[in-house]
Amino acid sequence: MKKIVFALPGNEILTEILIHKEKAEKGFIEIRAFPDGETYVRILSDVKDKKVILVCTLHNPDSKLLPLYFMAKTAKELGAKTVTLIAPYLSYMRQDTVFQPGEAVTSTYFAHIISSMADTLITIDPHLHRRSSLSEIYTIPSRVEHAANHISSWVKYTIENPILIGPDSESEQWVSEVAKNANAPYIILTKVRHGDRDVEISVPLIEKYKDFTPVLVDDIISTGRTMIETIKRLKTAGMKPPICIGVHAVFAGNAYQEILNSGAKEIITCNTIPHESNRIDISDLLLI
Ligand code: R5P
Repeated sequence: MKKIVFALPGNEILTEILIHKEKAEKGFIEIRAFPDGETYVRILSDVKDKKVILVCTLHNPDSKLLPLYFMAKTAKELGAKTVTLIAPYLSYMRQDTVFQPGEAVTSTYFAHIISSMADTLITIDPHLHRRSSLSEIYTIPSRVEHAANHISSWVKYTIENPILIGPDSESEQWVSEVAKNANAPYIILTKVRHGDRDVEISVPLIEKYKDFTPVLVDDIISTGRTMIETIKRLKTAGMKPPICIGVHAVFAGNAYQEILNSGAKEIITCNTIPHESNRIDISDLLLI
């Protein structure tokens, strides 16, 4: 089946890489806002009987969701055989339970919407914490890839004498993997989140790692509070300024600059979300 790949707005760079690597046809679309703020979508390429691939990373998802939905539905309407969504960053994974009475479990509802528009989903390191797999909420087949090997290679070839540090228990799944492949030790800290921008981090005894280069690894960097609080604790413990690595460069507000200001030596991310900190190319994980 012929493949045709479309970039939703903001996904052009990664899409070009994928088209080049896949030797696939490039799809053309027109997406713009009507004067009243509603979205206009037009597919300019022929999609009939083709495998349509939509590339749309989903940070700041609310404004991306409707154009994506309209694109997927139009492709089907125009005779596409299948619609595959490549969402390198999959949003709405963190509200996966009811913490306070009356809250919406948005990860479930978001999954319903995506499952109703695409036939397949491909993503990288979705935030699976209380859920063990996407199939618990997504009713379409999904392929989950992991950035750990790419991060380990970067660490192995770039950092001398690294100690990998995970800020919380959830991070152990990827930090242990990164550490194993980079032949480096790792430690996991304890985090308690009191609010969106209020986290408390406890660091165990790390005296013996004073001569190491601390490398913090997390899946998502959003407000940056997790990184900033960890950096503070490491400073107090007499550690060197750390390298902060995030898979997904969400960086809410001024988070990127705030982390640098708090004493990070460098911030490195994967290109699941376009950002100036992207240094680790994970595009090969997204090939179909
Ligand atoms: C949550 O548990 C994740 O693994 C990250 O630690 C978290 O999303 C980071 O968020 P923030 O940058 O807002 O502290």
